[in-house]
Amino acid sequence: MKAVVHEVYGPPEVLRVAELDRPVPGPDEVLIQVHAAGVDPGVWHATAGLPYLLRLTPFRLRRGAARVRGMDVAGRVEAVGAQVTGVSPGDTVFGSCDGSFAEYVCARPERLAHLPAGLDFAHAAVVAVSGCTALQALRDTGRLRAGQSVLVLGAAGGVGAFAVQVAKALGAGWVTAVCGPGQEAFVRALGADEALDYTRDEPADRDRRYDVVLDIAGHRPLTGLRRVLAPGGTVVMVGAGTDGRWLGGLDRQLRGLLLSLLGGRRRPKRFRMLFSTQRAADLRQLADLIAAGRLTPPVARCFSLTAVPQALRRLREGGLQGKIAIVVREEA
Ligand SMILES: NC(=O)c1ccc[n+]([C@@H]2O[C@H](COP(=O)([O-])OP(=O)(O)OC[C@H]3O[C@@H](n4cnc5c(N)ncnc54)[C@H](OP(=O)(O)O)[C@@H]3O)[C@@H](O)[C@H]2O)c1
Repeated sequence: MKAVVHEVYGPPEVLRVAELDRPVPGPDEVLIQVHAAGVDPGVWHATAGLPYLLRLTPFRLRRGAARVRGMDVAGRVEAVGAQVTGVSPGDTVFGSCDGSFAEYVCARPERLAHLPAGLDFAHAAVVAVSGCTALQALRDTGRLRAGQSVLVLGAAGGVGAFAVQVAKALGAGWVTAVCGPGQEAFVRALGADEALDYTRDEPADRDRRYDVVLDIAGHRPLTGLRRVLAPGGTVVMVGAGTDGRWLGGLDRQLRGLLLSLLGGRRRPKRFRMLFSTQRAADLRQLADLIAAGRLTPPVARCFSLTAVPQALRRLREGGLQGKIAIVVREEA
């Protein structure tokens, strides 16, 4: 099979297409014939090996061993291990795994869900990482309740375009979407009540206060984020907010946790970090929203498997509306 392999840290061009043996699923795994894969900043970080902290995590390269990159996946189940239940050969699924930039990949069923009716593979392939992040940030970490107000910083990107839609679907009373110049119409079409341009408008200078702030593409002083919070509100620190080469902004997130302690008991303001995961139950919740027409997976552009380096470069240029999908197999 064809796969995009990674052998040394570096720019996107270090990724190359190679011929590999088709993987064999273990007893608790599913073999997927990949139709499409999603691209997110995590793939760029893993390829570059930046921040250096990443080289201590499971995403690292191991000495002498090539890795297939790609996490988001959508495709058709080719085979299932003996212990797998709930998924059968021929089923169409989406979710996350390790190595989706390939014609076949093994995945664990607890990170998969069935494709909602009517959804094509390219759109399904952008859901898992960004959609689960948005859902967990709002519902679990942010504890969003119906009628509350939400500020989404980075609303036109991968996580943000899901977050605006999911916030409205969870019953948010008001969503302010902060995006790049020229993206306002896009985020309003996703359901935002108002759109602000991050090059012109500063939420901290306005009177509106928010119950939940999603800091997806930070770059803002933490004190300003604290100022826009309503009493009892939560800043969910999703993105690192800097390109720090060593810690990738983890230090900023730790400073946020410290700031929480200064809120006082009577007017508490919380900063919380998020480490999202992809779970079948959350994927099913997102699939239900898609099937009900309340969530549209935002595909900005499609690239082929051989063009993964160009896709990563395009992601880094910015200005996308949603996510990039890699089309691995054209639909019949
Ligand atoms: N905590 C977790 O579990 C988790 C999970 C997934 C992702 N993440 C992280 O979350 C971050 C965002 O991921 P993503 O997939 O959404 O990336 P993305 O698709 O690149 O989107 C980032 C968005 O932020 C916008 N932006 C840039 N500067 C901004 C500013 N000063 N104010 C407001 N918006 C600004 C960008 O707009 P322009 O392109 O127009 O400049 C872009 O639309 C990344 O750091 C990623 O690693 C964390």
